[in-house]
Amino acid sequence: MEFFLDTASIDEINRYKELGLVDGVTTNPQLLSKEGRDPLEQVREIAAIVSGPISVEVTHTDPQRMVEQARGLARVAENTVIKVPASMVGLTVARRLKEEGIKTNITLVFHPSQAVPFIRMGAEFISLFVGRVEDFGLDNREHIRRIRSMIDEMKSPTRLLAASIRNPDYLVAAVTDGAHAVTMPPVCWEKVYNNPLFNQAELEFLESWRKLPPRVREGYESIALDREVAQNAS
Ligand code: E4P
Repeated sequence: MEFFLDTASIDEINRYKELGLVDGVTTNPQLLSKEGRDPLEQVREIAAIVSGPISVEVTHTDPQRMVEQARGLARVAENTVIKVPASMVGLTVARRLKEEGIKTNITLVFHPSQAVPFIRMGAEFISLFVGRVEDFGLDNREHIRRIRSMIDEMKSPTRLLAASIRNPDYLVAAVTDGAHAVTMPPVCWEKVYNNPLFNQAELEFLESWRKLPPRVREGYESIALDREVAQNAS
């Protein structure tokens, strides 16, 4: 299972790399635009610090220009993967890129039917948007399992990437329901590790602990120090 980070921010990528949570990065035009600088420079900088796949999306809508832009973006770094929309135009573009050996991440998949031809052609990734459908009162978790089973059924090399992750339960669904990778926005990792139950319990334990007089808890707290002293003495 690979963990990608859904961001174009260098600071966030560096921070999450330290935590071992950056097997790759996914960007999109909105994420790049938030950084407010030359997006090409931003992608180059990301490529300099991330060795796994870096998804970058085409911004043209005309198929010929999309193919040309994809060729250029693929040359920015050897680990760039080109995001192509899961549409009929995207199908034309992805087929051309496949012939040229350019890796694609088929994006904006909201229903498994969109993914079928791309799985058959062996696109590198299918990005299922799990969370965005929430805005319409829908739930896309079941589609993780269905797309994975189509990939297995067609014996395709395509990898399913669970995207648009907006709450911790979607991360768990991605792992248990068969996604090969999940792309997490940093804000969602924050939600995972800012659980009020955890915070309350941790506080309670430490408050109780501090009720012990310092001289009583001293041995327990300085045990590591004692061991170092003992090791140095031997
Ligand atoms: C995927 O690669 C996209 O960048 C991303 O997951 C979109 O998420 P959103 O629906 O939160 O914008």
